Amino acid sequence: MAKLSVGILGATGMVGQTLVQLLENHPWFKVTELAASEKSAGDSYGKVMKNRWNISPSIPKYAQDIVVKECKPDLDCDIVLSALDSGVAKEVEEDFARKGYAVSSNAKNHRMDPDVPLLIPEINADHVDLIRSQQKKRGWDGFIVTDPNCSTIHLTLALKPLFDSFGLDKVMVTTMQALSGAGYPGVSSMDIVDNMVPFINDEEDKVETEPLKILGNAGRNSIDYAKIKISAQCTRVAVKYGHTESVSVKLREKASKEDILRSFEEFRPNKSLGLPSSPKHPIVYLEQDNRPQPKLDVNLENGMASVIGRLRPCNILDYKFIVLGHNLVRGAAGAAILNAELLKVKGYVG
Ligand SMILES: NC(=O)c1ccc[n+]([C@@H]2O[C@H](COP(=O)([O-])OP(=O)(O)OC[C@H]3O[C@@H](n4cnc5c(N)ncnc54)[C@H](OP(=O)(O)O)[C@@H]3O)[C@@H](O)[C@H]2O)c1
Repeated sequence: MAKLSVGILGATGMVGQTLVQLLENHPWFKVTELAASEKSAGDSYGKVMKNRWNISPSIPKYAQDIVVKECKPDLDCDIVLSALDSGVAKEVEEDFARKGYAVSSNAKNHRMDPDVPLLIPEINADHVDLIRSQQKKRGWDGFIVTDPNCSTIHLTLALKPLFDSFGLDKVMVTTMQALSGAGYPGVSSMDIVDNMVPFINDEEDKVETEPLKILGNAGRNSIDYAKIKISAQCTRVAVKYGHTESVSVKLREKASKEDILRSFEEFRPNKSLGLPSSPKHPIVYLEQDNRPQPKLDVNLENGMASVIGRLRPCNILDYKFIVLGHNLVRGAAGAAILNAELLKVKGYVG
């Protein structure tokens, strides 16, 4: 099978590097174009990233000689994966979609647009068909699909089995988010060493609203949002990779701890889609009292799982637990790749 060609926008950033890494030897996709801002364009990726590559010991060989271009819609590729800063993503992604490209984005800008799918393939693969109304409404030959915020993805994966089995009424969540979630160079060391920061711009609104769209029902032209109340507090902590979230839930129906554990265990959705980047177990539950921990557990299932632990009764709502997930892999680059795989399976590309 001929591989589909992929261009990465924002290839020099934290998420962009992770895309470059994860797409090495991908069975369906081959990276043909790397793009970033004007200041990075014009030289080979190897040269541009010589002192900037920082997610693994070395830049994948295949990417070394690709010349970095500007993010203009004249790239030679079938699909565009966008890891652009949100300050520029809106217009650039729209330019690509208008010119006929399929865009799978990590940026926040289009996530909540009624005609843009906000996808977690294990949960709402059917929302992808919003593409048709998006193209009709906007007159585009291409389209944009998005993945959720990095904390939202792991929270929503953890909530989905509870939502389906018992119904969800209320959710309280406090996030402890890794430094790599703020991009590079991100938070100043003087602000975070020996400290934590109890504020991340715009983050709480995303965590409170995006799950409602993802868990909602798809109509022909928009999504009927799930009726759950979510309250979020988002903090930055001195961890390099992995967002940890402390979650309490109020269910609509009574459930025992065993019922809830069974719902996590039995969450094996959409296996039939056969997406190469799908984790075998999208949810992993750890029994030990002191897990999950970012240092130990963030790379389970190649960074594509949401890792849950410490399920116990809550004195105010019904149950509480901890969820951990990789912000750059399942929370961003891996999610955008999974969405691109879904586009192929559903016939929107290729
Ligand atoms: N980090 C995470 O865990 C995470 C998780 C989920 C979603 N996201 C989202 O993913 C996107 C990328 O995040 P990141 O953490 O990788 O950020 P980052 O490290 O700051 O990278 C930003 C990228 O955008 C490019 N860029 C900036 N200004 C540009 C311009 N005017 N024209 C073209 N390209 C431009 C940069 O290129 P230059 O290097 O040339 O400036 C760089 O490649 C953001 O929208 C972010 O919100 C991030």
